[in-house]
Amino acid sequence: MAGYIDFDPDANDMPAAGDVNISYAVHPWARRQAVATTAVLQICNYLAEEDIGDRAIIRAARENTASLGVAERCGFRYIAENPSTTDHRPDGLPVIYRTYALNLRDRSNARQAPGLRGGQPSACR
Ligand SMILES: CC(C)(COP(=O)(O)OP(=O)(O)OC[C@H]1O[C@@H](n2cnc3c(N)ncnc32)[C@H](O)[C@@H]1OP(=O)(O)O)[C@@H](O)C(=O)NCCC(=O)NCCS
Repeated sequence: MAGYIDFDPDANDMPAAGDVNISYAVHPWARRQAVATTAVLQICNYLAEEDIGDRAIIRAARENTASLGVAERCGFRYIAENPSTTDHRPDGLPVIYRTYALNLRDRSNARQAPGLRGGQPSACR
């Protein structure tokens, strides 16, 4: 198994009603092979097909270049940057989270990951 992906339509700290939080992690040996990109696109297509929520949301720490890259590569749009009220960096400053959103109602957002040739997603839960 290359990693994990999950979605939560009931997350209570989302920017708006109808937002579905997406979270993921890929084992180090499997990184930089579009595993997360493929899994996020598959989950978003599933959410749209099953009519679960209005927007998919990815939140990542500002310095988490890899996760922000996944959001951008999947076509998510940057919407906000906020300091966490609960999470702190080792230096005591709050973690700054960037929020990205993808409109699940706009089917032109339906995409297939580069390199995905059918079958099951590389990361799933
Ligand atoms: C974030 C994470 C899931 C990315 O998984 P991945 O399968 O390697 O991501 P992808 O291969 O789909 O990468 C998609 C894009 O993100 C960016 N990216 C990914 N890893 C990167 C890195 N280490 N440095 C810079 N950019 C990176 C790139 O733009 C990449 O596209 P490219 O390879 O064509 O340049 C993985 O690094 C991870 O598990 N990190 C620890 C857990 C974590 O941060 N989870 C997210 C919490 S919000």
